[in-house]
Amino acid sequence: MSVIEPLLLLSPAILTFFLIWVLSKRKRKHLNLPPGNSGWPFLGETIAYLKPHPATSMGEFMEKHISRFGKVFRSNLFGEPTIVSADAGLNRFILQNEGRLFECSYPKSIGGILGKWSMLVLVGDMHRDMRMISLNFLSNARLRTHLLREVEQHTLLVLRSWKENTSFSAQEEAKKFTFNLMAKHIMSMEPGKPESEKLKREYITFMKGVVSAPLDFPGTAYRKALQSRSVILGVIERKMEERRHKVHDICDEVEEDDLLGWVLKQSDLSTEQILDLILSLLFAGHETSSVAITLAIFFLEGCPKAVQELREEHLAIARFKKQEGRESKLNWEDYKKMEFTQCVINETLRLGNVVRFVHRKALQNIRYKGYDIPCGWKVLPVFTAVHLDPLLYNEPQQFNPWRWQKGPSPPNMTMTSSFMPFGGGPRLCAGSELAKLEIAVFIHHLVLNFHWKLAEPDNALVFPFVDFPKGLPIKVHILT
Ligand code: HEM
Repeated sequence: MSVIEPLLLLSPAILTFFLIWVLSKRKRKHLNLPPGNSGWPFLGETIAYLKPHPATSMGEFMEKHISRFGKVFRSNLFGEPTIVSADAGLNRFILQNEGRLFECSYPKSIGGILGKWSMLVLVGDMHRDMRMISLNFLSNARLRTHLLREVEQHTLLVLRSWKENTSFSAQEEAKKFTFNLMAKHIMSMEPGKPESEKLKREYITFMKGVVSAPLDFPGTAYRKALQSRSVILGVIERKMEERRHKVHDICDEVEEDDLLGWVLKQSDLSTEQILDLILSLLFAGHETSSVAITLAIFFLEGCPKAVQELREEHLAIARFKKQEGRESKLNWEDYKKMEFTQCVINETLRLGNVVRFVHRKALQNIRYKGYDIPCGWKVLPVFTAVHLDPLLYNEPQQFNPWRWQKGPSPPNMTMTSSFMPFGGGPRLCAGSELAKLEIAVFIHHLVLNFHWKLAEPDNALVFPFVDFPKGLPIKVHILT
């Protein structure tokens, strides 16, 4: 029997697959692909890549592959042939060339749950238009005039509920803070009201689905999340209707200070587009910042020296406010004085790696440092691997906010390549300045009013989203 005969017995589908595989392998022979493995058929190396690991590490998969193949290697992830980059220069090159050489390309399941008009999945002109709307609402001017005040109000609402010598989940509290803030800023929903609480409950189910395997069967987290998505969209749609009636009835009373009011009046987006925009902003703005705040609480608990230095910085700001006769609110000048706090924020984002990597694909054959990246391949810039690279950061596993006082290291490395917690290029996080403001204001009131310690041991793990399995239980003592 010849080699061909058993193949002829196989079904046409398997035969076609085999032929495609042989042809693509032949085509690849002419390319100088980075070294690497393809792993198992279909699954590739996805399971190993997504294996849970401490957030302050890059995980066994990345460590082993980098030491074996170098900082740029090939793999098969999320069902596609992939180039993985742990190289600061290549990561920057990929993000800077968005829309030209590379394009945002998240797995289909993300679009299924966040919606086809979500900013995370949109590309081209539609992405640009949605981004403009988001940037307009998260601009520096709005941070000064509206958001600083709101951030402080929502911080105090959460912190004032903390009682002496009680234990609770810091992560839950941080989520409460960022959710209330986003719901208020986006749709003027007040915390504590039944509809806000309902939205929050549905949102928890929704989030569990975003981070789960996309299996759309009865009872799965993904199916439940799709159901929650419909409920959440229903709430947002009702809000839209209320607004439309207001616009129609009495023009002057319309709330234009929130995102919903603005898009209804100033944009020509369809209802479906507005719903997905609002849902994705709620997602982007709530999850990430709350994880970052929880990480800051966690790292600071293990670094009393940093808490002491923070306290001195914030006491000086509080004293200055008092001298000026301002008893309560922080203003922009106060915020700008929080220099060591910014070092703590940078270090939290570097070591905690809230967003660990982003999904891209190559739009054409690209040559980088002698390697070929074939057109159509998935490309994953992994920020974590750069943030924890010992050649860029001395003792990278250490929480050391003081390293940011010295500027980027090594000195020839630009900050924009070696530190990318908010991504980069035309898709740089639209809420990066708001996120930093939220963390800084939260830290201000936290260190001035509380001493805290872990009520139980807990650790930040990657699932692949960063999460604390026990919710980071802390016990607080009120400072008098
Ligand atoms: C510490 C907190 C945060 C981190 C680490 C973070 C990180 C990121 C990253 C890495 C991206 C790029 C995704 C990509 O290139 O595929 C991104 C995009 C985005 N983020 Fe954030 N983010 C944070 C907070 C926020 C907040 C508070 C908002 C406000 C609503 C926000 C809104 C957005 C939006 C709208 C995008 C999409 C931008 C675009 O596609 O043009 N983020 N974020």
